[in-house]
Amino acid sequence: MPMIHHVFALVGLAGALYASPLDKAEALADCLIKAGVPVDETGSTEYKLDATPFNLRLNYTPVAVAAITTTKHIQDAVACARQLGIKANAKCGGHSYAAFGLGGEDGHLVIEMSRMNKVVLDNATGIAAVEGGSRLGHLAWELYNQGKRAISHGTCPGVGVGGHVLHGGYGLSAHTHGLALDWMVGATVVLANSTIVNCSETENAELFWALRGAGGSMGIVTEFRFKTFEVPEKATYFAAPVQWPTEARALLGLTAVQEFAKTMPAELNMRLFIARRFVNLEGLYYGDKEGLQSVLAPLMKKTNATLALARTGGWLDQVKHFGGSNIDLGHGHEEHETFYSTSLYTQALNEEQLQTFVSYWFKQAKNNTRDWYVQIDLHGGENSAVAKPAVDSAAYAHRDYLLMYLLYDRVDKGVYPADGHTIMANFAANITQGMAKSDWGMYINYPDSRLDQKDAQANYWGTHLRKLQAIKKAVDPDDLFHFPQGVLPA
Ligand SMILES: Cc1cc2nc3c(=O)[nH]c(=O)nc-3n(C[C@H](O)[C@H](O)[C@H](O)COP(=O)(O)OP(=O)(O)OC[C@H]3O[C@@H](n4cnc5c(N)ncnc54)[C@H](O)[C@@H]3O)c2cc1C
Ligand SMILES: *[C@@H]1O[C@H](CO)[C@@H](O)[C@H](O)[C@H]1NC(C)=O
Ligand SMILES: *[C@@H]1O[C@H](CO)[C@@H](O)[C@H](O)[C@H]1NC(C)=O
Ligand SMILES: *[C@@H]1O[C@H](CO)[C@@H](O)[C@H](O)[C@H]1NC(C)=O
Ligand SMILES: *[C@@H]1O[C@H](CO)[C@@H](O)[C@H](O)[C@H]1NC(C)=O
Ligand SMILES: *[C@@H]1O[C@H](CO)[C@@H](O)[C@H](O)[C@H]1NC(C)=O
Ligand SMILES: *[C@@H]1O[C@H](CO)[C@@H](O)[C@H](O)[C@H]1NC(C)=O
Repeated sequence: MPMIHHVFALVGLAGALYASPLDKAEALADCLIKAGVPVDETGSTEYKLDATPFNLRLNYTPVAVAAITTTKHIQDAVACARQLGIKANAKCGGHSYAAFGLGGEDGHLVIEMSRMNKVVLDNATGIAAVEGGSRLGHLAWELYNQGKRAISHGTCPGVGVGGHVLHGGYGLSAHTHGLALDWMVGATVVLANSTIVNCSETENAELFWALRGAGGSMGIVTEFRFKTFEVPEKATYFAAPVQWPTEARALLGLTAVQEFAKTMPAELNMRLFIARRFVNLEGLYYGDKEGLQSVLAPLMKKTNATLALARTGGWLDQVKHFGGSNIDLGHGHEEHETFYSTSLYTQALNEEQLQTFVSYWFKQAKNNTRDWYVQIDLHGGENSAVAKPAVDSAAYAHRDYLLMYLLYDRVDKGVYPADGHTIMANFAANITQGMAKSDWGMYINYPDSRLDQKDAQANYWGTHLRKLQAIKKAVDPDDLFHFPQGVLPA
């Protein structure tokens, strides 16, 4: 795909006017400058910071990067794109695995949000106003420092609130406190016609519903409003390695983990992390080490895990344990990997499916000498706060799945091999082999860049797709906020 776009771009430069969106660069630059929208100069340091994707396997060339600092800039940038028939996307933390912040293909206007990252907590109500370009670490830092409060979210401090919250937001507080999007109580949005609207459960409720799971397709959120919780006095982060040297032992171990997931207590947040050289149970317990040990005891026995690490500390201690010592990240934070990844949600696997999983793991995946892992989050279950709200209460479609898998395969240096994806793609396909389509899903925050738009929409949004397409038609009929795996208008 990128190759073909480059060819068109060259043909365009050689003669044919407007052969590709990249050829509209000049007209777009004129429009943006006239409107007073700051633009990153191509090749500048700022441009490189803003236009380099997290995943270096997926480099796309924007038609322009608008380095916005105000809501008015966003409205004007959207208007310029609309006038010229150019697709536009917000980019917040730029951490999309498929580079959706860059549009997921060449020739988009990137509306770089990361210079708008104010976080203001109202101590009296516990509601935080958070600008649409903030990163998770900055959010955690500010909420803690302004009032010892937090929302539930993922572990990586460089991830943007924009992409993370608008498409789910699963982390090591989710089993206790739900998804990041469950903490959203309102938002201010620039629509495709440059209008500004507010939305919440009581105002533009359909847009609010759509934002909480498919936000990137609907508009640009300039400000989120989150309710928050008071951070617990102490929490215990832990890692418990397991040794499963044979397929038979891995089968027993996996069976025990998924059984445990069905009824594990709300205070426990855990994932099974399978890497090439080790396997860990790891997570966060809302309570002290003794409490953790007693809750984990039955599982430790069945899996032969050893509690190698269990440290009790304050709120920021665990944030830093999972996210690194410097969490207060802003504009210009740089972090990259080179990889292919895909994802799944399933219920507990039956014995045959478990056998297929283990067989693929030992015979195929273990043979892959790249730096791969399969992370299985214990997402749902009887006591999970993720599973508590009704499935149709927000666009996020997969609350009721027990397990969420991220399958990730990276190279530490150099180029990712052209056929590298087959290892993880086949892993996922082996797991779902024989399952009804309604028995599994995928997570757009862990997107598979190889899906076509039809499959992507079906896998990410399942039974919510029709309603989403109708809302998309109402707010963005011309698909201005297009990306290759976004919601298409009905
Ligand atoms: C190192 C790392 C760790 C991660 N850990 C977790 C984790 O623990 N749990 C988890 O659930 N996910 C995790 N993720 C995935 C992450 O949640 C997604 O990649 C997320 O979409 C990234 O958001 P972003 O704003 O950084 O990305 P971007 O690439 O900037 O944006 C992603 C999408 O959101 C849209 N968007 C961004 N901002 C806005 C806005 N203000 N208004 C409207 N649309 C917007 C973009 O247009 C694009 O479609 C991780 C990713 C990385 C790279
Ligand atoms: C908010 O409350 C916390 C304690 O709950 C306090 O430390 C902080 O100073 C307050 N912040 C403001 C801005 O009032
Ligand atoms: C949206 O809500 C914010 C915060 O409550 C308010 O300041 C703003 O005026 C509202 N904007 C519109 C367009 O209603
Ligand atoms: C745990 O250890 C026992 C005793 O060595 C063994 O029989 C059992 O299979 C092991 N279970 C797992 C999941 O490794
Ligand atoms: C394992 O990897 C080696 C080297 O990459 C390859 O030659 C071999 O066919 C692989 N084995 C299997 C079972 O895939
Ligand atoms: C399962 O994995 C094998 C080995 O990689 C692959 O050949 C096969 O196509 C996969 N099965 C499915 C259903 O994709
Ligand atoms: C902008 O789009 C919204 C959503 O479709 C619509 O309600 C509103 O009337 C439009 N505003 C203008 C000025 O066209």
